[in-house]
Amino acid sequence: MRRRDITRKTVWITGASSGIGRAIASQIASDDVCLIVSSRRTEALEQVAQDVAVRNSECIVAPLDFSRVDQAIQDANSIVAEHGPIDIAIHAAGISQKGEVRHNALQVYRDVMEVNYFGLVAVVKSVLPGMLDRGHGSIVGISSLAGKIGSSNRSGYSASKFAVCGFMDCLRSEVAPHGIHCLTVCPGYVKTDIAHNALNADGSRRQQSTSHIDGGMQPEKCAKRIVQAIHKQRDEIIIAEGINRWGPLANRLFPQLLRRFLIGRNI
Ligand SMILES: NC(=O)c1ccc[n+]([C@@H]2O[C@H](COP(=O)([O-])OP(=O)(O)OC[C@H]3O[C@@H](n4cnc5c(N)ncnc54)[C@H](OP(=O)(O)O)[C@@H]3O)[C@@H](O)[C@H]2O)c1
Repeated sequence: MRRRDITRKTVWITGASSGIGRAIASQIASDDVCLIVSSRRTEALEQVAQDVAVRNSECIVAPLDFSRVDQAIQDANSIVAEHGPIDIAIHAAGISQKGEVRHNALQVYRDVMEVNYFGLVAVVKSVLPGMLDRGHGSIVGISSLAGKIGSSNRSGYSASKFAVCGFMDCLRSEVAPHGIHCLTVCPGYVKTDIAHNALNADGSRRQQSTSHIDGGMQPEKCAKRIVQAIHKQRDEIIIAEGINRWGPLANRLFPQLLRRFLIGRNI
C-alpha cells in the first residue's frame, strides 16, 4: 500500500480545541506540518498552538463556528483564502445528543446536523476547488459507530453520522479520479467531552459524561490510528475496542439479529 509523505503539508483541523481533534493536532504535528486549528473557543485553540509549537510544527489559530452554516461557509472560504491552499482537511468538530424521538425538540436535530453534517459540507466545499486544481489532497470526515448502527436515544446524532458516511462515499467516488483521497473515520467510545457537551431533548447541555465514554479509548490512541490511516490513504476505518469493534460486521451479516439485540438498549 502507498504511504503518503505529509511533511510540510498544510493541515486544517476543525474541532481542534478538544478531544479527538486536539489529539490529532498533537499527533500530526510530529510530521513537521503547517497546522490550521479551528473551533469556537479561541483560548483553547491558542493552548493547542503552544503544544504544537513544541513539536516543531507551525500553527495558525482560525476560530470558526459551525452552528450557522451559511456564515460558516463564508468563514471557511476566508480561512482557505488567507491560509490555504489546504492539503489535508479534517472535520472533527461535532456535538452529540441524547433523548428519545418523542421528546426531542426539532431544533436539537437541526443543531446536531448543522455542526456534524453541514459543517463537513462547508469544509469540503471550501477546500475542494484548490485540491481539484492541484490534483491532490486528503479529506477526513469523522463519523462514528453510530453512523453504521442506530440505537435508542441517538436518533439525531446517528442520523448526522449516517449522513457523514453517505456524503463521504459519494464524494470519494467523484474526486478519487482527480487524485483526492477521502477517509471516513468511525470511532466507538473515546474518552472526550462529547457526552458532557451533548444536547438533552430540550436542547440544554447534558453537562455530565457517561460510563461508556469515561471507559472509552484514550483520544491519543484514536488520533494515532487516524493519522496512520491518512498516511496509508485508507477509505474508511472503524476504531473501536472489544465487542464494539465487530458491530458493523455483525450488522452486515446478521442485521435482524442485531436490531433485535438493540431494542430498548442505550449504547
Ligand atoms: N468521543 C467519542 O466517543 C466519539 C465517538 C465517535 C465519534 N466521535 C466524533 O468525534 C468528533 C470529535 O468529538 P470529540 O469526542 O473529540 O468531542 P469533544 O471533545 O466534545 O470535541 C468536539 C469539538 O467540536 C468543536 N465544536 C463543537 N461545536 C462546534 C461548533 N458549533 N462550531 C465549531 N466547532 C464546534 C468543539 O470546540 P469548541 O467548543 O471550541 O467549539 C470541540 O473542539 C465528533 O464529530 C464526534 O461526533 C466521538
